[in-house]
Amino acid sequence: MNNTSKHVPECDVTAALDCARRIAAGFAKKGMVSDNAPGYYIETFGCQQNEADSERLAGLAELMGYRKSAPEDASLILVNTCAIREHAEKKAFSIIGEFKHIREKNPALIIGVGGCMVTQRHRADKFKMSYPYVSFTFDTGSIHLVPSLVEKAMKKRGRSFVITEDYKIAEGLPTVRREGGAAWLSIMYGCNNFCTYCIVPYVRGRERSRRPEDIIAEAKALIADGAKEITLLGQNVNSYGRDLEEDVNIASLIRMICALEGDFRIRFMTSHPKDASDELLRVVATEDKVVKHFHLPVQSGSTEVLRRMNRRYSAEHYMGIIDRLKEMCPDISLTTDIIVGFPGETDEDFEATLEMLRRVEYDMIFSFIYSPRIGTPAAEMEDQVPPEVSGERFKRLLALQDEICEKRNARFLGRRVKVLVEGVSKSDDGMLTGRGDMARPVHFKGTPDMIGKFVELEIVSVGAYSMEGEICLP
Ligand code: SAH
Ligand code: SF4
Ligand code: F3S
Repeated sequence: MNNTSKHVPECDVTAALDCARRIAAGFAKKGMVSDNAPGYYIETFGCQQNEADSERLAGLAELMGYRKSAPEDASLILVNTCAIREHAEKKAFSIIGEFKHIREKNPALIIGVGGCMVTQRHRADKFKMSYPYVSFTFDTGSIHLVPSLVEKAMKKRGRSFVITEDYKIAEGLPTVRREGGAAWLSIMYGCNNFCTYCIVPYVRGRERSRRPEDIIAEAKALIADGAKEITLLGQNVNSYGRDLEEDVNIASLIRMICALEGDFRIRFMTSHPKDASDELLRVVATEDKVVKHFHLPVQSGSTEVLRRMNRRYSAEHYMGIIDRLKEMCPDISLTTDIIVGFPGETDEDFEATLEMLRRVEYDMIFSFIYSPRIGTPAAEMEDQVPPEVSGERFKRLLALQDEICEKRNARFLGRRVKVLVEGVSKSDDGMLTGRGDMARPVHFKGTPDMIGKFVELEIVSVGAYSMEGEICLP
């Protein structure tokens, strides 16, 4: 085994794969293969990291001999949950409640719940006590244990509620990738930052970087397989490599991937402003294969709120990064995350956030009303902001951003842009959706054979939320 980074902790994936193959052999013996194979269904909540994890869950399900199906026809349902806000947890509870009816009709159905929500002890306990039709739960570090949990459930050897608190890297799990030419590539797992509002460090463990050679090998395989866009994933990709022995960081890693042959492009997320190096900004500005889009979550425009959030940068420091980025790459598309109503947020603090939006002029923002998370410091802070105040501020934030979006999108009108065609538009099945350097997708009339490929479009209309394009003839 290539072991240049001695302290990369790895899971026993071989045992997982053996177990999966054993299950598949059992199905094969009963003639349950190809069209006759049992169905699996996966429901995913949360961020891209969870989507990437679900691709590995799907890979394992297929190795176990299951084939993708609707939930009603499934013999195995896996729910990959999120805990970032109360709303995400509620949605998971509600859908799992619906699966109860399917289980009533099919008592052999195995329902497993994984992800960030059930990596919290109180949530795993809730499933144990109040959801008897859930066969097992598994934490975010235990995806490779799923085949053994399924096997145990099949043999009716009791229910399991796994929280190992032993977070490692699982190299070599099979994956079933999404369609459309864009692929996730996790470069690291976990988070060390402990922002005071955030549950992630408690449910994803400490930062673990994958070895650069493993990442490059996966990137090569993706490109060979036709991927046109690779998004490097991590909770804070800017600290990639700090735990490795090699001299590698996010900027040098991106350069290595750019040097691979092929017609593809690279995105990365998420960046923490405290670690955003000028070297990384330069890579974005100068490497042709890197999409000219930077997602840099600010959370608040008030330095005092940022201090209480434990973000470890000031509003001025953040603005400095944005200014340098705009100088190096004037046409960059910028997006951010904002939390409204963090404990103790005053009207002045909120005004500072609005001012930040006006100064930066983001192409798009992802904004959230603060949601207290059990076990995080902010949930215990005094001066929780009443929901009506947060709600009012949230509306003002969105109204201001709508104006900014319209203005920012207008710069694309009449321009030629190269977009990757991701699929059929969600709002109009007569249209396709493509994504370029801009934050917003572009809708256009095309043919299904274009999906997963690059096309050139001329932008013919823009609004605050959408853009339309027409195919440019060569
Ligand atoms: N690791 C990434 C994103 C993590 S979660 C980062 O640091 O940027 C995505 C976003 O959810 C965060 O950026 C934050 O804006 C939001 N978020 C996290 N915890 C939250 C909470 N308790 N309430 C509301 N929004 C939250
Ligand atoms: Fe959460 Fe902060 Fe880590 Fe992002 S950097 S995952 S917001 S603790
Ligand atoms: Fe949610 Fe876990 Fe991602 S809490 S946002 S799925 S890291």
